Amino acid sequence: MSLEIQQVTRYYGQQKALDNVSFSLKKGELAGFLGPNGAGKTTLMKIITGFLPPSEGEILINGIPMQIDSVELKREIGYLPENNPLYNDLYVAEYLDTAARFYRLRNIREKVREMIGLTGLEPEQHKKIGALSKGYRQRVGLAQALIHQPSVLILDEPTSGLDPNQVEEIRNLITGISEEKTVLLSSHILREIETICNRVVIINKGRVVADSDISELRDISLIQSQQVFAEFDRQVSSTAFSAIEGIHEFRQEGKGWLFTAIPGKDLRPALFRFAVDSRLTLLTLTERRQDLEDIFQQLTKG
Ligand SMILES: Nc1ncnc2c1ncn2[C@@H]1O[C@H](COP(=O)(O)OP(=O)(O)OP(=O)(O)O)[C@@H](O)[C@H]1O
Ligand SMILES: [Mg+2]
Repeated sequence: MSLEIQQVTRYYGQQKALDNVSFSLKKGELAGFLGPNGAGKTTLMKIITGFLPPSEGEILINGIPMQIDSVELKREIGYLPENNPLYNDLYVAEYLDTAARFYRLRNIREKVREMIGLTGLEPEQHKKIGALSKGYRQRVGLAQALIHQPSVLILDEPTSGLDPNQVEEIRNLITGISEEKTVLLSSHILREIETICNRVVIINKGRVVADSDISELRDISLIQSQQVFAEFDRQVSSTAFSAIEGIHEFRQEGKGWLFTAIPGKDLRPALFRFAVDSRLTLLTLTERRQDLEDIFQQLTKG
């Protein structure tokens, strides 16, 4: 099912936590939702899942507006809330059983068993939820989010606080279950989004600051500004650099210089020619690609 967020604004008292946020996901898309702490990710996810009303704007699931009382529509959505609040006193199967009853599912025992298998909970299923490690708690949260076979999945920081092995397992699990589903997954780690999503929406202070395919974002970074570090065999007066074509700015860094190109330029040939013309020997000439983490910081700083 498609998911559309249309001009959603949300106030908490005087504070505008979301400011005219719009984007949409096509059926089957797995999108990362990124932003620093306090950007508004959780707020939007609560609005999408119908737990919180927007102050303005609306959410459409397959073209149908979501309301607080949209019972049928909510059945289409699976939600793993931030910090995954669970009932610690319940056994794993007991909890999933309760979740299944909430949705009035048929063949509940079968569904519970199926979810335990799907999320790899077998070895821990005899434990109470309170006794589970974070990774397994997260699996219970995912099982709960999936048990009614929703077509839209909203996952709020599903890998936060997990060790690297668990992170990888949970990511694989998400990739596996997200086939055929429309998924929005929040995180503040761009790397994570890069490895599992094909689309990224970045918000900062309640506003969308980027919305593109992961590959596009990388292209933007390349086009935006190449940086080249160059070290010469002797001191150079920096006034000479202004003659080099394509340089936007430069600064000394250690024994060398860091040059930033104007967008779209590759500085390396020009720097090489500059060295030859000035009878300098180039000791180092290395390109520093901006990585996605840099773009994220640029988009969300200040
Ligand atoms: N119930 C609330 N009452 C008042 N303000 C709130 C409430 N919930 C969130 N906020 C504020 O709204 C802003 C957005 O918060 P939100 O939790 O949506 O951010 P987030 O992107 O999920 O952050 P994080 O990465 O830390 O989880 C923050 O400034 C937060 O303090
Ligand atoms: Mg949050």
